Amino acid sequence: MTHVGTQMLETDRLILRRYVSEDAPAKFRNWTSDPEVTKYLMWKTHPTPEYTQKITDEWITHYSDNKRYHWAITLKENGDEPIGDIAVVRMDEEVSSVHIGYCLGRKWWHKGIMSEVLKAVMDFMFDVVGVNRVESRHDPRNPNSGKVMQKCGMKYEGTLRQSDWNNQGICDACYYALLKSER
Ligand SMILES: CC(C)(COP(=O)(O)OP(=O)(O)OC[C@H]1O[C@@H](n2cnc3c(N)ncnc32)[C@H](O)[C@@H]1OP(=O)(O)O)[C@@H](O)C(=O)NCCC(=O)NCCS
Repeated sequence: MTHVGTQMLETDRLILRRYVSEDAPAKFRNWTSDPEVTKYLMWKTHPTPEYTQKITDEWITHYSDNKRYHWAITLKENGDEPIGDIAVVRMDEEVSSVHIGYCLGRKWWHKGIMSEVLKAVMDFMFDVVGVNRVESRHDPRNPNSGKVMQKCGMKYEGTLRQSDWNNQGICDACYYALLKSER
């Protein structure tokens, strides 16, 4: 892998960029305060805007590490306001593999946005960072996340029973991945 840090990415409808401290109020309004968004995630719904501010400011300090890949998703037609999040949540340098996690404000669900975002991040990971494998996983009770993976060309690899957890408790995990050789 050749680490370059979180670079700005552009798609037809979207700009993926680094977070700035001023994003916190929109993050809280658009997704971190929504229990429907966090239902199958591993972090709790944020209780206050101040909590989102604290987490955002912590994240920003991570950008000094060029192995961190963490984007605010913005929709061009909506201005510069973040509407969701995508990040490399795990990395295995030995096997040149990254694991991606994402979430989107409920107002923007089912418009093809996360599929467009994930595709851009996968292209960046393969073409710029030079990874060999991009993977993700979802709770089977959250099938729309698996559909995003499918739409981006990832292949279903199997379900590990009771191998994971989220805000619903211990859960199965459906794994998907795409290899460099399969593109
Ligand atoms: C899962 C999530 C990221 C999907 O994002 P999205 O932008 O709505 O996904 P897309 O619009 O790209 O949808 C991809 C496919 O999933 C299916 N899908 C997505 N949302 C759907 C919905 N609300 N109802 C029915 N099908 C849906 C469709 O098949 C869709 O393909 P299509 O557009 O060709 O019909 C979003 O719902 C979300 O942020 N959920 C909360 C956080 C979360 O669960 N993150 C993932 C944890 S593993």
